[in-house]
Amino acid sequence: MKIVLIGYMASGKSTIGRILAQKMEFSFIDLDNYIEEKEKMTVSEIFDKKGEIYFRKIEHVYLKELMVLDKNIVLSLGGGTPCYAGNMDVIIESKNTSTIYLKTSIATVVKRLTNEKNQRPLVARLKEDQLVEFVAKHLFERSYFYNKSKYKLTVDNKNVHEIVEELHKLLS
Ligand code: S3P
Repeated sequence: MKIVLIGYMASGKSTIGRILAQKMEFSFIDLDNYIEEKEKMTVSEIFDKKGEIYFRKIEHVYLKELMVLDKNIVLSLGGGTPCYAGNMDVIIESKNTSTIYLKTSIATVVKRLTNEKNQRPLVARLKEDQLVEFVAKHLFERSYFYNKSKYKLTVDNKNVHEIVEELHKLLS
């Protein structure tokens, strides 16, 4: 079985995925880390040196590689993964796969991204006032893809353990 965590940047996909995987005794894979290991570069370096289009191409290839693994996994995607190259359809059409959208408000994302935007090439160069407008528009556009997930869980104002508990109940 595969549990795929979907959501905007800084929605907690990786942190929650790792703990959920432990609880369920599944393997945990973070797609960004997987790409970094395979390409021997950080995501920021890939964006800088090879550009976003290259990143989207390999993101699609590695996602497909993971979706055919015959293994119990919790897979955390990148924020953009569901929105390119038909990836959301690849995921939905995969056997024994549950999709979960970790829903965040604009305010939560802006607060979290303000502290950690340097590792994220899409927002690294934005000033604080630009960030709010960027996130509002971007999140709105991307919600169309995120909302194709089977389960949706609002994560604002919840701690990681509460979220993991809710997900565990949802999936059992
Ligand atoms: C991206 C999100 C990042 C990473 C890349 C692009 C996006 O992952 O895949 O920087 O398009 O939203 P996180 O959601 O883990 O930050």
